Amino acid sequence: MTNILFVSSSPRGAASQSSKVAELLIAGIQAEDPTATVTKRDLAADPLPHLDGNFLGAVFGPAETHTPEQARLLALSDQLVDEVLAADVIVIASAMINFTVTSTLKSWFDFIARGGRTFRYGENGPEGLVKGKRVVVVEAKGGIYSDGPMKIHDYQQPWIRFMLGFLGMTDVEIIHVEGQALGPDRAAQGVTEAGTRAEAAARAIAGRVAA
Ligand SMILES: Cc1cc2nc3c(=O)[nH]c(=O)nc-3n(C[C@H](O)[C@H](O)[C@H](O)COP(=O)(O)O)c2cc1C
Repeated sequence: MTNILFVSSSPRGAASQSSKVAELLIAGIQAEDPTATVTKRDLAADPLPHLDGNFLGAVFGPAETHTPEQARLLALSDQLVDEVLAADVIVIASAMINFTVTSTLKSWFDFIARGGRTFRYGENGPEGLVKGKRVVVVEAKGGIYSDGPMKIHDYQQPWIRFMLGFLGMTDVEIIHVEGQALGPDRAAQGVTEAGTRAEAAARAIAGRVAA
């Protein structure tokens, strides 16, 4: 059985193309593997708090000093880490907002980046502890960043890829849904191209799980 963790983060609700393409991908996996389960984390509908002094006290302070709020934040962080560790496949839907990820997705990473649980520092520097995951990130953007003059201003893809790698997740495929602000034809082209890639990724994931 495949456990899928679906993390969505667009503030655009039903209009979100990153979520739609991610849902197409997940439906494709489930079509090939009907036993696959999905845990959904909708960060727009149910946003996480920003990292603050309470959270730092919860993570770095001794349990006996925790306030009820700190205990709640630590339990929430533990739950989010548990969801990541339990997943075989992690699908992240990310909208580009002001050239990078939404603050809600940043908070999710802040809550799952936990020393001793998802990474540690050893003699050779940092080591990611989240191993053996297949990760697909669907990134929707208004412009074109895969090539051309705006490529160097894509602060979404490099950061997500680096952060996943820092935590140990190196089997990462990124599907772009580009050109969403460049008129209906270019937007539709971006969705079609991404959909084709999502269907192929679903077949590859289901095939690998079955093998
Ligand atoms: C507040 C806001 C800021 C945005 N900033 C950017 C941006 O910096 N660069 C860009 O290419 N598109 C930007 N866009 C366009 C979105 O990336 C585009 O609508 C994309 O489809 C959003 O993902 P979604 O369809 O999953 O919601 C922005 C959209 C909004 C609403």
